[in-house]
Amino acid sequence: MILTQPHFACVAAAIGLLIHFVVATGPLNGLPVLNGPVPVVPLGLGSKKRVGEFIHPGIWHTHDDLERIRLGVGNGQEPWKSAFEKFSLDSFSQASYVMQGPKSIICRGGCNNNYTTFSNDVHAAYQNALMWYITKNESHWDRSTTILDAWGTNLTSIIGTDTSLLVGLEGDMFANAAEIMRWEGGWVEAGAKASGGSGFSNQLYWLFARQSIIIGQANYGMVSIKALLSFAIYLDDVTLYNYAVHAFQNDLCAGIYGNFHPETGQGAETGRDQGHAQGALGWTAEAARIMQSQGTDVYSLGDNLLLKAAEYTAKYNLGYDVPYDPKFYRCEAVLINGPWAMPSNISRGAVQSTPKVWDILYYQYVIKRGLRAPYTTKMKLTINDLGGEGSPGTSSPDDHPSWGDLIWSYDKKGQFINDDGRTIWGGGAIGPNGTGMINSA
Ligand SMILES: *[C@@H]1O[C@H](CO)[C@@H](O)[C@H](O)[C@H]1NC(C)=O
Ligand SMILES: *[C@@H]1O[C@H](CO)[C@@H](O)[C@H](O)[C@H]1NC(C)=O
Ligand SMILES: *[C@@H]1O[C@H](CO)[C@@H](O)[C@H](O)[C@H]1NC(C)=O
Ligand SMILES: *[C@@H]1O[C@H](CO)[C@@H](O)[C@H](O)[C@H]1NC(C)=O
Ligand SMILES: *[C@@H]1O[C@H](CO)[C@@H](O)[C@H](O)[C@H]1NC(C)=O
Repeated sequence: MILTQPHFACVAAAIGLLIHFVVATGPLNGLPVLNGPVPVVPLGLGSKKRVGEFIHPGIWHTHDDLERIRLGVGNGQEPWKSAFEKFSLDSFSQASYVMQGPKSIICRGGCNNNYTTFSNDVHAAYQNALMWYITKNESHWDRSTTILDAWGTNLTSIIGTDTSLLVGLEGDMFANAAEIMRWEGGWVEAGAKASGGSGFSNQLYWLFARQSIIIGQANYGMVSIKALLSFAIYLDDVTLYNYAVHAFQNDLCAGIYGNFHPETGQGAETGRDQGHAQGALGWTAEAARIMQSQGTDVYSLGDNLLLKAAEYTAKYNLGYDVPYDPKFYRCEAVLINGPWAMPSNISRGAVQSTPKVWDILYYQYVIKRGLRAPYTTKMKLTINDLGGEGSPGTSSPDDHPSWGDLIWSYDKKGQFINDDGRTIWGGGAIGPNGTGMINSA
């Protein structure tokens, strides 16, 4: 279930602010004008001062995170063991997955939505990257990197009113696949060169990152923020990264304080429908995860505001009443029949197609931090009874990556410090058997 449309109007106000900056954007044809220079923002919690501070791989999964997955599977430890059994059966995890693209132009929103070839291939690139890391089977290395290179050299334009959603959802997952293959797999992009190149980085910069710079509102805006974080890390772009980090904390329409009521955790779209209310939790958790990979804890921001928000939305969706402040609602709510007088019961409850946002919250707060979260826990267990957030054939296309028991899990309370020694290219062997871009003899 895709729970993010339509958001057509969200960028309208922002365009007004940035219209004076709009400039031509490089060699790609048909690029919408929704992009401009990256605003330079004040430094704050989590911002970086120089490029060498980036940790790689460091988007959804650091090296330590990947090792936790690999060792959990290898040692037959739960929840990784059972999660991997299901994950490895999924069609997107197969080295024999048949690529559906590449295409040169795809469209989302106000068109025929002909982007599913990209969605599917992106899922296969990401899942094959994980399969390669876990099994070290070269055929998965090949599958992931050929998909990255094929789309990376052929896709020149994304159009439609929901372009920035496509960029922020599929584009982000694609960047995650690339980050693993580059820094762990030693993949070298086809076509990569400093000027006039056609490869993945060039596309990521011009077509993906710059498309997300005008951040929309509410969950749509958080999608752009979390994607910008990912793109900036892959690209080693300090200014872009700091912009997204700043927006996460300070954008009162799209950042964490715009999305969640500081006292109760009520969502800015609680009155709209529960799909959007839950989606916002997932994207905020993914953004926080990316910053965690870079060494900054924002899960605890605002007295664990995201946890408060998870508890609020879990409680309501489990059938309980929640306090409701009608004055807390999303920016531009009028465009989607808001503001709202009460929580919406649209898509209320926990079903198999409930947005896959609960595992990441549960493992981060309940297991890793040992915090009390009865409703989030109950939500996680309820969804487990329905098959969990990862079952073969259910992972795509979707707004969140699925497979939470495999990719987001921790087995106990702990710090799980990131290995920030892995930031410098040290000449490790290139290729599927290589040691990747880490300091290695
Ligand atoms: C997708 O649709 C857009 C808009 O109609 C079109 O320009 C593009 O060529 C289509 N792409 C494919 C792969 O069909
Ligand atoms: C690697 O994966 C391929 C495709 O799934 C399979 O045919 C092959 O047997 C695997 N190789 C090893 C060493 O497991
Ligand atoms: C485009 O994709 C095809 C695979 O379908 C690949 O062979 C080719 O190298 C890619 N790049 C260009 C510039 O055509
Ligand atoms: C939502 O509430 C309305 C009015 O209270 C009711 O008519 C409707 O059946 C409810 N829908 C669901 C899905 O519970
Ligand atoms: C990688 O290692 C495997 C197993 O040792 C070997 O069969 C394969 O040829 C190696 N691949 C490359 C590209 O060196």
